[in-house]
Amino acid sequence: MSQRILTGIKATGQPHIGNYIGAIQPSLELSKQENISSYLFIADSHSLTVQPSASVLKQSVCQIASTWLACGLDPNKVFFYRQSDIPELFELNWILSCVTPKGLMNRAHSYKARKDENLKLGKKDLDDKVNMGIYNYPILMGADILLFSADQVPVGGDQIQHLEMTRDMAQKFNHIYKKDLFTIPKAFIKEEKILPGLDGRKMSKSYNNEIPLFLESNQLKKLVRKIKTDSTPAEEPKDTKNCLIFQIYKSFASDEEMQNLKDLYVKGIGWGEAKDILFFKLEDYFKDKK
Ligand code: TRP
Repeated sequence: MSQRILTGIKATGQPHIGNYIGAIQPSLELSKQENISSYLFIADSHSLTVQPSASVLKQSVCQIASTWLACGLDPNKVFFYRQSDIPELFELNWILSCVTPKGLMNRAHSYKARKDENLKLGKKDLDDKVNMGIYNYPILMGADILLFSADQVPVGGDQIQHLEMTRDMAQKFNHIYKKDLFTIPKAFIKEEKILPGLDGRKMSKSYNNEIPLFLESNQLKKLVRKIKTDSTPAEEPKDTKNCLIFQIYKSFASDEEMQNLKDLYVKGIGWGEAKDILFFKLEDYFKDKK
């Protein structure tokens, strides 16, 4: 049976290694298989929630498109498009919003995070600076996925809830209209591929903790140096489990390379040295894609 995969990357800023591990790499790997048809796109309408200028948005769309291509997307084999070029998405967005309970959107992590932030800042209005685009974000994402009857959606761990919401919307619609119109999609996620950012929270543009793809060598080195570590002295054995450097390294290194770094951790390695190993790995991994 043939399977459809679909994924998008939001066009805000430069794509980062979390996008690569969560969406780009698994999608491109799957898209090479015979029985799979792929829908890979640039989510430029989703970016409007941050109200970018036309030139900033345009630049970001070009960056995402060139990243997909540089990483090996073959436009003859996959459907490769810009979200805003498909007007039917916005029609479906409205139809889905009429079957989606408001309470479901109230529970969206990204919206809740904004409210928590306002609470922390002591704001009276917890919805301060929350526009309806942010609030309805998961519905447009549902339309992206359901319009093309996707079976599998390769995404980073931060998108799991959006996929669950999409499934809810599809089921709800199918139930109300007594028809199996929408395919119920599944998130395609490799557990070990949830990448932490520089500060240990999930890697995300909204946390400003990302490592962008295709940086100049010295910029990449500088960023890797910023990864948060503890104050264990250089000569003391180190734990790989809670170490951000190791967690990021794991997504790019071979089993043998991982074992070598593990051995160095047991012996005791300075954080500077561990960061250099990660830096060289990332440089090497992406050099032929630049
Ligand atoms: N929300 C995703 C992100 O922030 C982008 C996205 C939009 C998406 N629509 C999608 C991903 C549909 C998968 C499927 O990166």
